[in-house]
Amino acid sequence: MPLPPGKPEAVLPADAEESSTGQANVFDFLKEDHEKLKVLFRELQHSEDPQQLKQFFDELYSELTSHAIAEEEAFYPVARQFIDSSGQAEQNYVEHAEAKQLLEEIRLLDPTSNEFNGKVRDLEGAIEQHVLEEEGMLFAKMNLNLSEQDLIQLMTQVAQVKSRERARIAGVR
Ligand SMILES: [Fe+2]
Repeated sequence: MPLPPGKPEAVLPADAEESSTGQANVFDFLKEDHEKLKVLFRELQHSEDPQQLKQFFDELYSELTSHAIAEEEAFYPVARQFIDSSGQAEQNYVEHAEAKQLLEEIRLLDPTSNEFNGKVRDLEGAIEQHVLEEEGMLFAKMNLNLSEQDLIQLMTQVAQVKSRERARIAGVR
């Protein structure tokens, strides 16, 4: 008997580009963003060339800032209705504010200094924690409560804010 055509059983965040209906949704989009951040942090840690460090950091700055603003404007307002009174919604905004502050501080530092390296590591730790919270509890709760169509539409809104912010940051530089 032929096996039913199946999907791969486990899809890692990095590879997750499609939902069960075959269309990417907001979770796929955000997970891909998180993965990009992880790669940039890794690259920052493995380079010693000042020019390269600066380039990786500029990309991290743009990615993380635009990601955070897109979540704040388009994603959290929807997400917060599924988070109970644990204060997690407020916590997300606080964590983003701290990350953005740290990015601004790092931006002024010499990329080859110990201080730069130390603060990049602090930021990486904070983002890792933030990603775990989002991809774990928050996405699961939203997935239970929103339709596939809602999640696809939400991705469009998040993507719009993100590209607007990427363009703004590129213009500022
Ligand atoms: Fe995020």
